[in-house]
Amino acid sequence: MRTAVIAHRGSKANRPENTLAAFEEAMRVHSDGIELDVHLTKDQEVVVMHDEKVNRTTNGKGQIKNFTLKELKELDAGSWFSPAYRGEKVPTLKEALELLEDFPGVLNIEFKTDRNGYPTIEERVVRLVNKYRANLPVVYSSFNHETLVRLRNVDSSADYALLLWERLAEPWRYTRQVGATAQHLWEPSALSETGKQLQEHGLKVRAWTVNKPKNMQKIFEFGLDALITDYPEVALDLRRSYEQIKKSAE
Ligand code: G3P
Ligand code: MG
Repeated sequence: MRTAVIAHRGSKANRPENTLAAFEEAMRVHSDGIELDVHLTKDQEVVVMHDEKVNRTTNGKGQIKNFTLKELKELDAGSWFSPAYRGEKVPTLKEALELLEDFPGVLNIEFKTDRNGYPTIEERVVRLVNKYRANLPVVYSSFNHETLVRLRNVDSSADYALLLWERLAEPWRYTRQVGATAQHLWEPSALSETGKQLQEHGLKVRAWTVNKPKNMQKIFEFGLDALITDYPEVALDLRRSYEQIKKSAE
């Protein structure tokens, strides 16, 4: 089995995270998947950003939920990373989906509903995904598992994964009970008995956020379903070498 490489927030290490530039880079290196995070603006637009506040990744200040889309679009989401990305905007999910319209890999949409519930975000995301990615793979995830249950009620065919830091006892029972097909686990938890047990029970395990080459290597050897990384190009190169060495040893 081949471990898929999912680009975290686009290609976080070498592009401003969760921007169209980051998603373009993830596609350029042929990532198997792309992960991004979503929130709702004051006027109920789905936008792509990691934090609840715009402070870290733009030149603005305040909570996304207090910005209208128009106000959010006035911010610069690239300069904080490098002057080369000055003028990069906070993308809407619609804009990201338009860019990724032909991306054949898996799109992992993480609902950032941990602190702000963003009522109706599930319906809004599903509507957009059904329009732009009807025949392409999408996996939803969230640390807020209530969101995933709501999602199931909105779209019973949605594929979703539980985001977790910790190792649960009998992790497959809870995963199945919630209707998820996978756990997206903190790297040390994924590389444990929990990761093994989930896979033995036919569930998928994707580890985050795997940035050290020696840990990427461990995950290839362990045979996890995917790793989510800020360095997709490094992980893909390493996987190629790993596969070549394995093949020549056969
Ligand atoms: O989905 C994996 C990872 O993105 C979860 O953590 O904080 O980077 O969204 P975070
Ligand atoms: Mg995320």
